[in-house]
Amino acid sequence: MEVGLIFPFPLKRSYGGSQKGITYVPNGDSQNLFHTGDADLKTPLNLEFIAKDTVKAVERRDVIVIIDALRCCSTIVTALTNGAACVIPVITIPEARMLKKKNPGFITAGERKGIKPKGFTLGNSPLEFSSENVKGRVVILTTTSGTKAISLSKKGEWVLIGAFLNAKAVAEASLKIAEKEETGISLVLAGKEGQFSLEDFLCAGAIAEGFPAEKVELDDAVRAALLGFEGARRSLKKVIQQGSHAQYLEKKGFENDVEFCSKMNIFAVVPFLKEEKIVPLETSV
Ligand code: MLT
Repeated sequence: MEVGLIFPFPLKRSYGGSQKGITYVPNGDSQNLFHTGDADLKTPLNLEFIAKDTVKAVERRDVIVIIDALRCCSTIVTALTNGAACVIPVITIPEARMLKKKNPGFITAGERKGIKPKGFTLGNSPLEFSSENVKGRVVILTTTSGTKAISLSKKGEWVLIGAFLNAKAVAEASLKIAEKEETGISLVLAGKEGQFSLEDFLCAGAIAEGFPAEKVELDDAVRAALLGFEGARRSLKKVIQQGSHAQYLEKKGFENDVEFCSKMNIFAVVPFLKEEKIVPLETSV
């Protein structure tokens, strides 16, 4: 089934630089976004193992997919699915508190050492982001690693948020954008405190599986992630539970989060970083 993207820009947006300038006409005139491209021209699909290497993806001008399956990106996907107006990722707790002070209607959410910071409305459990809690609300989110990885990527033209929950949707959306922009795609693992994470690597493989093989050129790291995911998929939750981050969360009583975040393709939303706010990249089927 073909999924069409409607880019949520209020105005025409043009890209210049070293690339051919492209003008997107927003909502209503998106037909020409859906060219299938020359069959011989494959889109490069890259993987960065640690968050700070997202700067390489920015330099390449790739479409960036930030992956933090446990739990930041799963939380963002769930919040937008349940109708949050947007998610504002911030790096520090004081920054979140300051923003809340200026905007009392906003919700503060996040974690440090897995636990909700003092005075915050919500923690970082995606299960807390029900429509009852977030519908129509602006969520200020600060987490140990995920929101940092997103902030490190903010110079990228296209920064999308990926998790197991929306793996297929984010693959489809990133490919359509990359084909139109004539650039590559980078899957960037947020990891934990700057280190590699097993579940993010497997999630990169799950997302990679969503690309038609004839349309993308995988680097060896993506190939490895795909192989890892293929090996893990039949007992995905059990494999994720072997990782240190899942074990850390389970010790803190968040085993339900690990289970929820291991679910594949239950949501179609593709969160997209637009002017420092994360909003849904709208889809129409
Ligand atoms: C993070 O961004 O560091 C994670 O989402 C931490 C967590 O699991 O709460």
